[in-house]
Amino acid sequence: MEIGVLDGENARKMVEVAIKNAPVKDVEYYGFDFFDGSSFNQVRQKLGKVGCKFKLFKGDTVDTLPRAAKGLPKMDLIFIDGGKSYAEAKSDWEWSKTLMHDGTAIFIHNCYFPGVKRVVDEIPRDEFEVEILRPTDDSDTAMVKKRRH
Ligand SMILES: C[S@@+](CC[C@H](N)C(=O)[O-])C[C@H]1O[C@@H](n2cnc3c(N)ncnc32)[C@H](O)[C@@H]1O
Repeated sequence: MEIGVLDGENARKMVEVAIKNAPVKDVEYYGFDFFDGSSFNQVRQKLGKVGCKFKLFKGDTVDTLPRAAKGLPKMDLIFIDGGKSYAEAKSDWEWSKTLMHDGTAIFIHNCYFPGVKRVVDEIPRDEFEVEILRPTDDSDTAMVKKRRH
């Protein structure tokens, strides 16, 4: 699942990695974005070519994610890369958290943005392991997993 899809390039790359490890019929992608202009159709075309199952949710994730989350399966991987304000990132994290199974990894991109950083700082460390990844070719990203008790 990806929050903040933009032009779907990252979506395509994520799915292409996934289908190296699983049959394409077993790979599902869920994307959330405002999808302004032609981006909705552009992303649909890109993912259609890859051949996985996918569903796109158009609108503000503060509204769309709470509504959609109740009907979604648990996710293996969630990439949070939408709105960078505290309110948006907090809502995206809180609703993504409801879609975790014991092995889910959530990546929170751009975690140096003040609002996003505050959300990451508030994640309870007794429940979750939080590691800050600092790739040389991308910005800081928090990797969050459920702590095993
Ligand atoms: C940084 S881009 C995503 C980039 C993409 N994940 C990638 O790796 O190429 C952020 C996206 O989040 C979307 N976005 C920002 N705030 C949002 C919100 N509150 N609800 C829905 N989409 C939002 C924007 O429309 C934009 O496409």
